[in-house]
Amino acid sequence: MARRKKVYEGKAKILYEGPEPGTLVQYFKDDATAFNAEKKAVIDGKGVLNNRLSEFFMTGLAQVGVPTHFIRRLNMREQLIRSVEIIPLEVIVRNIAAGSLSKRLGIEEGTPLPRPIIEFCYKDDKLGDPLVAEEHIIAFGWASQQDLDDIVALALRVNDFMSGCMLAVGIKLVDFKIEVGRIWENDFPRLILADEISPDSCRLWDVETGKKLDKDVFRQDLGNLADAYTEVARRLGVLPTNSAPVTRPTLIN
Ligand code: TMP
Ligand code: ASP
Repeated sequence: MARRKKVYEGKAKILYEGPEPGTLVQYFKDDATAFNAEKKAVIDGKGVLNNRLSEFFMTGLAQVGVPTHFIRRLNMREQLIRSVEIIPLEVIVRNIAAGSLSKRLGIEEGTPLPRPIIEFCYKDDKLGDPLVAEEHIIAFGWASQQDLDDIVALALRVNDFMSGCMLAVGIKLVDFKIEVGRIWENDFPRLILADEISPDSCRLWDVETGKKLDKDVFRQDLGNLADAYTEVARRLGVLPTNSAPVTRPTLIN
């Protein structure tokens, strides 16, 4: 049965035409990829967890006045979102040195940064999403200076909200990536938070033990990814605290 038109398929999500103009349905897959899809796996239940977690963060952000594309969750794996023109940038905010920043600049993982550092990568899988400077972004017309000022302000607001949210449940927000989209309201452009916010696109470390609770568990083979995401969801109250992981049927001998 042809259900609806697929608009775009990425590594972790699919976008379908929405029920009304200006809307899309965002479907969260169980696929996990890393290192520009060199490493791939299907993690049972990841899509369900990320759908719920992204709903949780985007709803909270909207409540503190950060505009987002999220409209409402439709079911276990889908949410209704506003259709946006994606700015072709991955906007990374870092609070603690880790990942590519540590590697590139030789700063030991776990070193707190003197202030949040924002980086931009050009969204192009063929090029491996290269780090770019504001100069490139403006010269090549990916965004204007005004857009960049708005994006930085938005990213810092997301960082403040997410850092507080996480710290309240004993988790350090080390870094994260967001994407921003443009919408048009009465012929005026406005930038809003798009894509997703989930442990796929954040680094999350337990405050006490330093245990990783994000996609590095998959990247570095540190254990079961769905268990890590379930832990984050439980702590945030997104899942009942003593429920079994959403992913696994209970096995009865
Ligand atoms: P990095 O240290 O590998 O540059 O990653 C910084 C943050 O951005 C980290 O939280 C993971 C996230 N991220 C993505 O969401 N997508 C990506 O493609 C990459 C490379 C990183
Ligand atoms: N870039 C994403 C990551 O490592 C996924 C991928 O590259 O395949 O987080």
